[in-house]
Amino acid sequence: MEASTASAAIRTVDVIRKKRDGGELSTSEIEHLVRGSTSGEIPDYQIAAWLMAAVLRGLTKAETAALTDAMLHSGEVLDLSEFSARKVDKHSTGGVGDKTSFVVAPIAAAAGLIVPMISGRGLGHTGGTLDKLQSIPGFNVDLTAAELQTVLRSCGCAIIGQTAQLVPADRKMYALRDVTGTIESPHLICASIMSKKLAEEIDGLVLDVKTGSGAFMKRPEDAALLAELMVETGERMGKRVVAVISDMDQPLGRTVGNAVEIEEAVATLKGAGPGDLLQLCLELAGQMLYLGERAASADEGKKLARGLIKSGKALAKFREMITAQGGDASVVDHPEKLPKARYRSEVKSDLRGYVQAIQCEQVGNACVLMGGGRERKEDAVDPAVGLILHKKTGDPVAAGDLLCTIFYNSEERGEPARKIVEQSYRIANAPPKQTRPLIHRIITGPPSASKSSTRAK
Ligand code: URA
Repeated sequence: MEASTASAAIRTVDVIRKKRDGGELSTSEIEHLVRGSTSGEIPDYQIAAWLMAAVLRGLTKAETAALTDAMLHSGEVLDLSEFSARKVDKHSTGGVGDKTSFVVAPIAAAAGLIVPMISGRGLGHTGGTLDKLQSIPGFNVDLTAAELQTVLRSCGCAIIGQTAQLVPADRKMYALRDVTGTIESPHLICASIMSKKLAEEIDGLVLDVKTGSGAFMKRPEDAALLAELMVETGERMGKRVVAVISDMDQPLGRTVGNAVEIEEAVATLKGAGPGDLLQLCLELAGQMLYLGERAASADEGKKLARGLIKSGKALAKFREMITAQGGDASVVDHPEKLPKARYRSEVKSDLRGYVQAIQCEQVGNACVLMGGGRERKEDAVDPAVGLILHKKTGDPVAAGDLLCTIFYNSEERGEPARKIVEQSYRIANAPPKQTRPLIHRIITGPPSASKSSTRAK
């Protein structure tokens, strides 16, 4: 399919109406929307109306497959045949404080694999890999396919964004979905993620599917449905795909923002990161090393990943990747060179007891409100704002204990954000009755296929 013109024989308004009324769109109708959106012939307001109809009415499996395919072919598919090593990647469905990409991509590259990661910007209340990377002075995420290949030749991993050549349809729709309340659809998320990942021409993909109050799929059963949809899509295209359903009922690690998350990822690569972040990174990296045939099992992959952190090889890869993408790698040893906010304020507990829960989406919203994400497409992201959580779910607290520090640049936004975070913490007399596992489930095949299997943790 060419990314050029929308079909003259199809009227966009009829396609919108058909989806609004619950009809099933044909492949040509979906191709018409994707072509027209990418070329700019169909205005954003019509695409936004269609996206909302798709969120409310849902898409069938056939529509989701057609959308994924049309988005994938809206631009080039990478040709990485020059690399004899296996190509693998990891993608998350979006979370708060989710900085695993900066740890797992260097680990996989340090093990000799190729990681051509096409990522996204902040989406809704969740942070964006590209926005976080751009807090590193000079870091360039807008590489052409040829430039990406140069970086891969030099260090084995690269993290870039969608471009006018690479999945341009996702670039357009992703930005529109971010600001039109049209993110939370398993079908749109599947098409967005899988079109990017299939354009990378990888052999294996690890999906980190989030569930909980900070995820787009709040309920574990919805996360499982999304995971199965994506695993099935990948397998249909001949890829080995594993989905790890992980907890996002509170932020991952202790930091939320852009520069602060880079700092925490670096600490993790130095062996000094928080336990939950390290555990998830080892799980995801272990699966990548297994799919990339560097380990006989995911557990063996985990051991290998741990060793690559301990030896400093993964950190060295991260440095190399920053340099290869034009960034200042000295931030790895001098985090004070990362952008810093002018002001800080503290959230303290009025009560004695235990942290029962942290409303994770609200924490993400507080960060967006301070400028860490976008409210409109044209907004610039402030790399310096963010939060450090000193207490997490289950922790005991005394009255007056520090729960969270907030970093901000605008006094107008700092106080409302502080209030949101304060209200996000629920303190009770007793610890939570049930602790949620960090890894809920691992899905390795479509539910109906004989090779399907799910592993409860
Ligand atoms: N990540 C993506 O790339 N797309 C989505 O829709 C959600 C998370």
